[in-house]
Amino acid sequence: MGWEQSGMRSLILNSPKSSLTTPLKRKEGHQESELFTSTISRRRWVEVDLDRYYTPISLAEELLLKEFRGEACVAVDSTCGTGNLLAAASNVYRETQCIGLDRDRNAISALRRKNPGWILSVGEILKDRSYKSTLAANAGARCDLLLLNPPFSQGNQKSVQVTYEGHHLKSSIAMANILKSLELFKPKNGAMVIAPESVLFSELDAAARHYIESRYSIHIIGELHNETFRGARVRSTAIKILPGVKAKGSSVNTISVADSIKVNLVRGSMPVHFAKSGRGRDSIPFVHSTDLKDLVLGQQPSSIKIGASRNGRVSGHVVLLTRVGIPKLDFIQPLELHEETQLSDCLFALCCSSKTKAITAARRIRANYSNLLDIYRGTGARYVTVQRLKNWLLEYGFEVN
Ligand SMILES: C[S@@+](CC[C@H](N)C(=O)[O-])C[C@H]1O[C@@H](n2cnc3c(N)ncnc32)[C@H](O)[C@@H]1O
Repeated sequence: MGWEQSGMRSLILNSPKSSLTTPLKRKEGHQESELFTSTISRRRWVEVDLDRYYTPISLAEELLLKEFRGEACVAVDSTCGTGNLLAAASNVYRETQCIGLDRDRNAISALRRKNPGWILSVGEILKDRSYKSTLAANAGARCDLLLLNPPFSQGNQKSVQVTYEGHHLKSSIAMANILKSLELFKPKNGAMVIAPESVLFSELDAAARHYIESRYSIHIIGELHNETFRGARVRSTAIKILPGVKAKGSSVNTISVADSIKVNLVRGSMPVHFAKSGRGRDSIPFVHSTDLKDLVLGQQPSSIKIGASRNGRVSGHVVLLTRVGIPKLDFIQPLELHEETQLSDCLFALCCSSKTKAITAARRIRANYSNLLDIYRGTGARYVTVQRLKNWLLEYGFEVN
């Protein structure tokens, strides 16, 4: 099952100042150190601030209007903070019962004063004993729509142990909040989640994604501009989680013919031990999987001498994928090879007609990264065959030569 880029292309929001960009951009980890330059009380800063990027109400309203058109009689936010997501639901849907949980006592007190009709409790969603007896947890059993913008990180803690439906696993903090909220509230119409992009792609959250996808389908709505959350540098994504498992291959239905990307698929052929470094008339640039990091950083491949002519030479705009060994997400990038380059037998190239096409191709592959990993098989080193890769590319809207 994959992370579908549902309706991303159609989701150019009305307002010119809309916070949503489309399509999804390059993955970046959470750069905590960039956020806080002061060394004084650095830890406290992190703990407090990272938890408090409240969602602008107008953005939440836009997302709800676009993505959840039906009525939401009971809307729940398990990390409600200032209640912006609930306020948006209450503005968009008529007669909505808003239910909120937050560990911040002050935030809940302020919210109670502002919205006496809402059911609000102090509690920690990641601690069973803290929320179980709360009014919010009990009333939330009738949840129609779950709204979430969980904390992305807490201090130096990047991962937590979490239990979901009896499975013990490790995940990011944001993902743990998503899991526990889904488990507790079982939203009838699904969930709208603002989360770091990493919950979609990271190794750390792979197990969590697997368990979520056994009950729900996950759709990427779009990427949020960095400025959406004042001071935040994290790449955030708006996600829709709908009840029910997505039919295999259904994501292809969301990619129209107009969106198809033409690529020429080239398999490398030179065993790396045949490649001898050197320069001369018969030398040609050579790329092996171990060179991908340097290429992504902007270097051009170095030359080697090649005796006989080999298949698997490419130039121009390409995306390189490993044939042997799991591809690294960060290395799936558009590249430009200035000269004809020999690929090692551990690589594939997707040759594109322009830089824009290569950017789009890399982006689409990255957005479906977890599915891509499924086609790398093998008991020893995992590898992919030309046919399996070709089928996968076709499924994801590529036209392959
Ligand atoms: C990023 S803010 C989002 C608030 C609100 N959902 C919004 O979008 O405006 C995260 C909130 O989660 C709360 N929080 C963090 N960890 C929590 C936990 N384990 N249980 C409940 N609330 C938590 C923080 O107090 C903070 O108010």
